[in-house]
Amino acid sequence: MASAILASLFHPSEVLALVQYKLAPKTKYNYSNDKARERLYYHLNMTSRSFAAVIQDLDEELKDAICLFYLVLRGLDTIEDDMTIDLETKIPYLKTFHEIIYQKGWTFTKNGPNEKDRQLLVEFDVIIEGFLKLKPAYQTIIADITKRMGNGMAHYATAGIHVNTTADYDEYCHYVAGLVGLGLSEMFSACGFESPMVAKRKDLSNSMGLFLQKTNITRDYLEDLRDNRRFWPQEIWGLYAEKMEDLVKPENCDKAKQCLSHMVWNAMGHIKDVLEYLEMIKNPSCFKFCAIPQVMAIATLNMLHTNYKIFTHENIKIRKGETVWLMKESDSIDKVAAIFRLYAREINNKSDPLDPHFVNIGVACGEIEQICVDKYPGSTAELARLQAGVMAGTSGSIITAAVVVAGAIAFKSTFA
Ligand SMILES: *[C@@H]1O[C@H](CO)[C@@H](O)[C@H](O)[C@H]1NC(C)=O
Ligand SMILES: *[C@@H]1O[C@H](CO)[C@@H](O)[C@H](O)[C@H]1NC(C)=O
Ligand SMILES: *[C@@H]1O[C@H](CO)[C@@H](O)[C@H](O)[C@H]1NC(C)=O
Ligand SMILES: *[C@@H]1O[C@H](CO)[C@@H](O)[C@H](O)[C@H]1NC(C)=O
Ligand SMILES: *[C@@H]1O[C@H](CO)[C@@H](O)[C@H](O)[C@H]1NC(C)=O
Repeated sequence: MASAILASLFHPSEVLALVQYKLAPKTKYNYSNDKARERLYYHLNMTSRSFAAVIQDLDEELKDAICLFYLVLRGLDTIEDDMTIDLETKIPYLKTFHEIIYQKGWTFTKNGPNEKDRQLLVEFDVIIEGFLKLKPAYQTIIADITKRMGNGMAHYATAGIHVNTTADYDEYCHYVAGLVGLGLSEMFSACGFESPMVAKRKDLSNSMGLFLQKTNITRDYLEDLRDNRRFWPQEIWGLYAEKMEDLVKPENCDKAKQCLSHMVWNAMGHIKDVLEYLEMIKNPSCFKFCAIPQVMAIATLNMLHTNYKIFTHENIKIRKGETVWLMKESDSIDKVAAIFRLYAREINNKSDPLDPHFVNIGVACGEIEQICVDKYPGSTAELARLQAGVMAGTSGSIITAAVVVAGAIAFKSTFA
C-alpha cells in the first residue's frame, strides 16, 4: 500500500482513491448463513480476485448467475490449459462440458498438481449444485456459451493455434473472449435490467471481449512467447520480422516498435463499439461491471503504446492507484467517455511522427474525441475535472496529505 501511494504521488486523485480504498470495509458480503453459496464465492475469490470484487457489487438478481458463468468457464479453461492432460483425454471433456455442468456430483481430478485452479475442478460438484439452482433461462445461456467455447477450444487444441490473418486473430479472440461478452449481454436482457437490444447487438458484445483480449495479447508478447504461444497475427508481425521471436532482438528495436503500434492500432478499432455498447447499459451495477474492464484496457493500451519494455519485461502493469481510481470513476457514460478521451489524447501525444502508424493512430484518437463530443457532451466537463486531478503538482495540499498518509501507513505496516 505504501509503495502504491508513493508510485501515485504525482497523481493526487489516485492517492485519494487509494486511501479511500484502503479505508473501505474489507468484506462487504457475508454468505456464512448459506454454506453452499459461501463455497461458490470462496472459489470465485480464489480464481479471480479482480472479478470477485466487481461481481459482488452486481444486483442480487444477477450476482449468482454471473459468478457461476465465470466459474464454469474457468473450469473449462483449467482443463484446456493443462498440458499434462493428453489430447485424447482432453478433447471429449472440452466438447461435452456444457452437458457435464448438469451432472450432479461430477468432479475432475486429472489436472496436474501444479495447475493453479486444480481445486476448483476437484470440488466442481459445488459449482454444479449452484448452477442447477439458477433460473433455467440463465442455465441455458451459460450452457450455450460453454458449448460454443468448448468446441472452439477443442478445435484449437487439435489444429494448433496459427493466427495468420487479422481475421484469424478476430476469430480466436471471439472464441476466448467475445463469447463471454455475448453471454453477459444475454443475461442482462434476460433478467429485464437491460433492453432486448443489448442481447441483439452481438457485434457490439463481441467487440467488448475483443478489446480486452487484444490488449492482453499485445501486453503479454514476451510471457506468451516464453510459453511457446503466439497470438500476434502473422499478417501484422510478418511486416516487421522474419520470425515473431526476432522482434526481441536488439537490432530489430525500431521494427519491433512499429509492430507494436500496429497492434495498438488494431485493438483501438474496437473502441467505437465499446462506447456504443456502454451507452446502451442503463442498470448502474451492470454499467460498472462492464465499464471497469474497458477503462482498464484503454489505460493499459496507453501504457503499452511506444513502450519498448513489452519486448524486454514480462508482467508490466498500470499503477495500483490508477486501477483503483479508474474503478471509482467508471460509473456513468460521460465519465467513461472522458476517461477514453483522456487516454486517447495521451496515446496520440506519445506517438512518434516517424512511425508508419502515426497517422492511423492519430485518426483513431481523433474519432474517439469526435464521437464523445457529439454523443456524450457531458464528458467535456468530466474531462476537465479528471485532468485537474491527473496533472502533477496542481494541488500541493493533496500531495502533502498524501505524504503524511503514506508515511503513516508505512509506519503502521512496519511496526504494527
Ligand atoms: C457472518 O455472519 C454470521 C452470522 O450470520 C456471523 O456469525 C459471522 O461472524 C459473520 N462473519 C463475518 C466474517 O463477518
Ligand atoms: C480471498 O482470497 C485471498 C487470497 O487470495 C484471501 O486473503 C482472502 O481472505 C479471501 N477472501 C475470502 C472472503 O475468501
Ligand atoms: C496466411 O495468410 C496469407 C494471406 O494473408 C496467405 O497467403 C498464406 O498462405 C497464409 N498462410 C498459412 C500458413 O495459412
Ligand atoms: C486481461 O488481463 C487482466 C490482468 O491480467 C485480467 O484480469 C483479465 O481477465 C484479462 N482479460 C481477458 C479478456 O483476457
Ligand atoms: C505530451 O508529450 C510531451 C513530451 O513528448 C510531454 O512533455 C507532455 O507532458 C505531454 N502532454 C500530455 C498532455 O500528455
